[in-house]
Parts: sequence; C-alpha cells; structure tokens
Amino acid sequence: MDAEKTFEQQYQKLRSANQPGWGGQTRIANSQEQTKLLLRWGLRGKVLEIGCGEGNLCRQLSPYAEHVVGIDFSSTAIEWAREKSLGLKNLEFVTGDIANSATVNQFSPHRFDWIVDGNCLHCLPSPERIQFYINCRRWLDPGGILFLSHNLMKELPDDFPEELGYRHCIEIDELLSEVSRNGFIVLTYQVREHIGYLHIRLLLAPEEE
Ligand SMILES: C[S@@+](CC[C@H](N)C(=O)[O-])C[C@H]1O[C@@H](n2cnc3c(N)ncnc32)[C@H](O)[C@@H]1O
Repeated sequence: MDAEKTFEQQYQKLRSANQPGWGGQTRIANSQEQTKLLLRWGLRGKVLEIGCGEGNLCRQLSPYAEHVVGIDFSSTAIEWAREKSLGLKNLEFVTGDIANSATVNQFSPHRFDWIVDGNCLHCLPSPERIQFYINCRRWLDPGGILFLSHNLMKELPDDFPEELGYRHCIEIDELLSEVSRNGFIVLTYQVREHIGYLHIRLLLAPEEE
C-alpha cells in the first residue's frame, strides 16, 4: 500500500475511535516538552510544521508565533486539525505531499522563519527526502531555521507495526552528512534514549546560496 493511503487510513481509524490524535496522550505530552525546547531554541515568527497530523503541535506553538501553518498529505488529518483549531486566528492547515516536486509552489519563497519537522522526515525514503530538503530551503527565510525530529536506528525492529507506515533507518553520522549534503549547517542537536531506539532533535540553518 502507498504511504499516503497508509497514513490516511490510520487517521480515519484514530478519528472514528475518538483518539486524541497520532500517538495518543503520550505524544501530546511529548509535544508539550518539544514546545519548551523549541522556545528555548528561539522559535518565532512565521512557522510551518511539516507532517502536522491533527495539529496538536501547531496549536501549542500558536501563542508564541506570528502565524503557524501545518501541512500534511492526509486529508482526514487536515480536516481534523481544522475542526480542533476553530477560533485560533493565526493557524492555517493545508493538504500537500512534501515529497512531490510540485508542492514547492504551495508556498512563496522565503515565507517562513521556522520550519518544524513534525516527525515526517523519518517517514520518507531516500529520494523523497531530497525533495523535503529542497522545499525547506525554498520556503525558509535566508536567516531561518529548520528543526528536525528524527528516529535514529540501524534497522527496524521486527515487531514495528505496519499501520504506522515506513520508517527510514539511519544513524547519526549518516544523518549529519545528509543534512550538510542537502545545504544545511548543524547549529546544535540533542539525542534522547527511548526503549529500543534513539531519537534526535536537530537545529539547522540553510547554507548561503
Ligand atoms: C509519524 S506521523 C507524526 C504525526 C505528528 N506530527 C506527531 O508528531 O505526532 C508523520 C506525519 O507525517 C505525515 N506525512 C508522512 N509523509 C508525508 C508526506 N510525504 N507529505 C506530507 N505529510 C506526510 C503523516 O500523514 C503523519 O501525519
């Protein structure tokens, strides 16, 4: 099954089961902690979240940003995000596939001060990852920041649930060289241990053109 269908079906299932969103309550608590880190790392201005799902992180960031846009290729996730965010004036949600080259035209160049990866990049296989970086470079202000949130693993555990979609297996050295090959400078990063795998948060600046 293709990735878009897998995520779309998963969001339909979560929504009809009245779940709070992707990853349940744990993920919501995690995004509160992530918001604190983003603020400590200087989040400001016009923000884009890629792979925003039902918009949980976007809503948490909205009091601290001028404007927040969430993009996701699941139409159910985007409808759900809009429904949960009624009344929040500086929030906007759009459907779009970050791995599609036509998506680069979805936003004007240099529109965003910050782009936050909503755990989306690690759902993309190699060729699609290049388009992710191309789009981010195009949409970021030259003084802007890209924040990545990525699992680090050598290989997928045998019991990884298929309905959660593809996960890109990569280790730290390879990820650091991937970001620099794709035009980003590493400002700082933080690695955390989870049961069975590591997770990295990275702060990147676009290289001068
Ligand atoms: C692992 S989930 C994370 C959801 C949420 N941001 C979170 O952290 O709980 C990855 C998200 O990225 C979205 N996604 C995956 N591939 C995508 C693509 N090519 N274009 C846009 N969104 C994508 C999925 O629909 C899903 O919402």
